[in-house]
Amino acid sequence: MTNEEAVNVLIGGADGKHVALNAKMANRHGMIAGATGTGKTITMQVLAEGFSRAGVPVFLADVKGDVSGLALQGKPHPKVDERIESIGIDGFQLRGNPVVFWDMYGKKGHPVRTTITELGPLLIANLLGLSDAQEGVLYAAFKIADEQGLSLLDLEDLQALLGWMSANRKELVGEYGNFTSASIGSIQRDLLVLEQQGGETLLGEPALNIDDLMKVDFSGQGVISIMDVTTVMNKGPKLYSTFLLWLMSELFENLPEVGDQDKPKFVMFFDEAHLIFDDAPKALLDKIEQVVRLIRSKGVGIYFVSQSPMDIPEDVLGQLGMKIQHALRAFTPKEKKAVKMVAQNFRANPELDSVAAITDLGVGEALVSVLDEKGAPSMVERTLICPPQSRIGPVSDNERKTVVSRSPMYGRYEEAINRESAKELLKARADEKMKKLAELEAQQQAEKSREAQAKAAKKPRKKSSGYQRQTATEALVKSLARSLGGEGGRLLRGVLGSLLGRK
Ligand SMILES: Nc1ncnc2c1ncn2[C@@H]1O[C@H](COP(=O)(O)OP(=O)(O)O)[C@@H](O)[C@H]1O
Ligand SMILES: [Mg+2]
Repeated sequence: MTNEEAVNVLIGGADGKHVALNAKMANRHGMIAGATGTGKTITMQVLAEGFSRAGVPVFLADVKGDVSGLALQGKPHPKVDERIESIGIDGFQLRGNPVVFWDMYGKKGHPVRTTITELGPLLIANLLGLSDAQEGVLYAAFKIADEQGLSLLDLEDLQALLGWMSANRKELVGEYGNFTSASIGSIQRDLLVLEQQGGETLLGEPALNIDDLMKVDFSGQGVISIMDVTTVMNKGPKLYSTFLLWLMSELFENLPEVGDQDKPKFVMFFDEAHLIFDDAPKALLDKIEQVVRLIRSKGVGIYFVSQSPMDIPEDVLGQLGMKIQHALRAFTPKEKKAVKMVAQNFRANPELDSVAAITDLGVGEALVSVLDEKGAPSMVERTLICPPQSRIGPVSDNERKTVVSRSPMYGRYEEAINRESAKELLKARADEKMKKLAELEAQQQAEKSREAQAKAAKKPRKKSSGYQRQTATEALVKSLARSLGGEGGRLLRGVLGSLLGRK
């Protein structure tokens, strides 16, 4: 292949013409939309295969389990032959693709993890649906962790830090804003819910190294990373969308600028994309819009898959180069209006009534517009989408196991590690403090009994007063144990100061 020769990903055919995505423009993003059962998943499969054959690594999320078939060779079928014939595909060959399976829960693929620190306060606040006040507390927690060298890896770390903040609230409020124990408490409860949704398997180490998603196999085919999200979609879909946002920002922050290239370095398909935008706060939407715009120059293409383009904010929609619109329903006035707007968003084709076509499209057929060499949108075409070369439908559990066990990634992420982080450090500090307190207490007790002995020698005293004094000390020790004070500095002095002050 020469440099001048364009790398194309064949989408399908229209009126004997091929409709293809110019790989040079693939970092200009795209969208696949349409009602359920109209062919979105297969279109994503076809594009993923095309990119993989062009040597581009692909990431996609498997919402229903049905894209796993990408790993295996498709089966011959008369309907497939018909499509090949009418599109006029040369060299169609049934075959599987190099696939690596991933799973947030580590069951249907290699575990996918990231850490609390890597997610950062903005994404966690969105994940937990925090109020402004609660978000303020979270930012304070991150700042404290930073200043005190406490690494926040998993949910336990964040819980421990919040507990510590609650206990030391009085000393902290001045410096870290005015937060209440109630707002800390409600974040802690949200974290418990997240834990039940499986947050503790996603959050931790070893964290996913994004390089492991960007591999090309020995034959030059891009590896397709398929993340199973069937479980998380039931348990906590927000966890899924948060992961996608994290992945996007991670790529954005870590990849070098490459400018325009013959083909992208990496493409991602975000299925059920509406979940990313649903009730996301403005600050986050702005950030997403910005990342989508800027990630282009890092050679990354993002493809949103959703029922309706209306699910995607206009600022993002306006940046999408490729548009594949499968059939939409138009029964209600709202649906009719949506169809009109979707049709108007295409560059008009005088030969085609887009509004009428959208409701008339067959399964595996779509209105398609791509960017030409110069980046201008092509006229919308009614297009029959290619059949996939890989299997339509899911792999069996056994087939999946085989793929996972043969994967070059096998063994890298399987074992969770729990290195020393905030929870352990805070506990160590607490233990240290308890030791000091115990010493102090022993000292006090010794002094007291000496005093008592001296006094007893003079005149007898009521026994109960000694007992009361002891419980007061006990209570103090307990409250200090809860407060897990910081080492040295203002905090320790503050805590110890009050202890010594009461003596
Ligand atoms: N391009 C295509 N080639 C062959 N069959 C297709 C194609 N698109 C859709 N189909 C058929 O239609 C079914 C539904 O398509 P699917 O992509 O799962 O719909 P959606 O994701 O929109 O719900 C597929 O299982 C497949 O049998
Ligand atoms: Mg689907």
